[in-house]
Amino acid sequence: MLKLKDIQTPIATELKQFEERFKESMRSSVPLLNRITQYILKQKGKQMRPMFVFLSAGLCGNINDSTYRGASLVELLHTASLVHDDVVDNANERRGFFSINALWKNKVAVLIGDFLLAKGLLLSVRDKELQLLEIVSEAVEQMSEGELLQIEKARKLDIKEDIYFEIIRKKTASLIASCCACGASSADAENEQVALLKEFGEKVGIAFQIKDDLFDFGMDDVGKPVGNDIKEKKMTLPLIYALRNTNSSEKRRIINLVKNHSENKEKVAEVIDFVRSSGGLDYATEKMLQYQQEAFDILKSFPENIYRESLEQLVRFTTERKK
Ligand code: IPE
Ligand code: IPE
Ligand code: MG
Ligand code: MG
Repeated sequence: MLKLKDIQTPIATELKQFEERFKESMRSSVPLLNRITQYILKQKGKQMRPMFVFLSAGLCGNINDSTYRGASLVELLHTASLVHDDVVDNANERRGFFSINALWKNKVAVLIGDFLLAKGLLLSVRDKELQLLEIVSEAVEQMSEGELLQIEKARKLDIKEDIYFEIIRKKTASLIASCCACGASSADAENEQVALLKEFGEKVGIAFQIKDDLFDFGMDDVGKPVGNDIKEKKMTLPLIYALRNTNSSEKRRIINLVKNHSENKEKVAEVIDFVRSSGGLDYATEKMLQYQQEAFDILKSFPENIYRESLEQLVRFTTERKK
């Protein structure tokens, strides 16, 4: 099993230092804020986005102070988006613990998310990292668009595969793309290289979100609620495929379950069974691996070195991970 720890080798010291700076970047003089940010830091995530920043900078030949700021910036915005996302999705579990909204209610979670966004803005403006800020702000704009598009489509329940891909490209892949672009840009790479790494990040991000959507069908315990997407009437790739490949009466039955009975655990389990037996999970896995391959292909145009090798492993981890 591929471990994140092994992939970190060429940037181990950078990640340690990053951790310190990241903690620092959340500091506040308001006690409630500090209690909550401590709570967030205690259940830290995988920190894959900072890894993409450092490895992309390394690949372009130069990890420097800007790279650190880029890494903190993306992890701050990622954390903000998770805190807001759990409000939007009514999710009470995150990283194996209670979510912020579950413990402190929606009001507080919305403000914490805003606070983290502001910290990201300040960090980049204070150090005049305008280029990084531009790259990342575009991603944040797309993330909001993606989340809203998803809400709009959840009301209709008839989303097609191309809309699904548009949603995940915006809500997830845009940020991972911006991590790779930030890393490259911090290393003063040529525009062409920045663009190429951004495209690489987008492919990885799409594969990453398909994997996340597969988790909702409960094959692994990942510290997030199972069946929550269906409960929230989110149509993800496995379900879209399964519905497309069934007869119209079965389709009506499943859509009725999602539409009118998604609060009922047994009915959600029925939908999950339907998706499994219709090959929805296999299909989504196949698509995920296609995007992974496209990401690998882009990397081949970069020189072979330890950073490229680690990026390749990080891409593999994206689709093989258990959380
Ligand atoms: C979760 O991202 C949000 C998605 C885009 C699916 P991660 O799985 O990277 O979250 P953490 O930071 O490791 O918890
Ligand atoms: C992830 O959305 C994307 C963002 C956080 C913007 P999801 O709702 O699919 O992610 P999880 O499953 O809650 O982490
Ligand atoms: Mg969610
Ligand atoms: Mg969501």
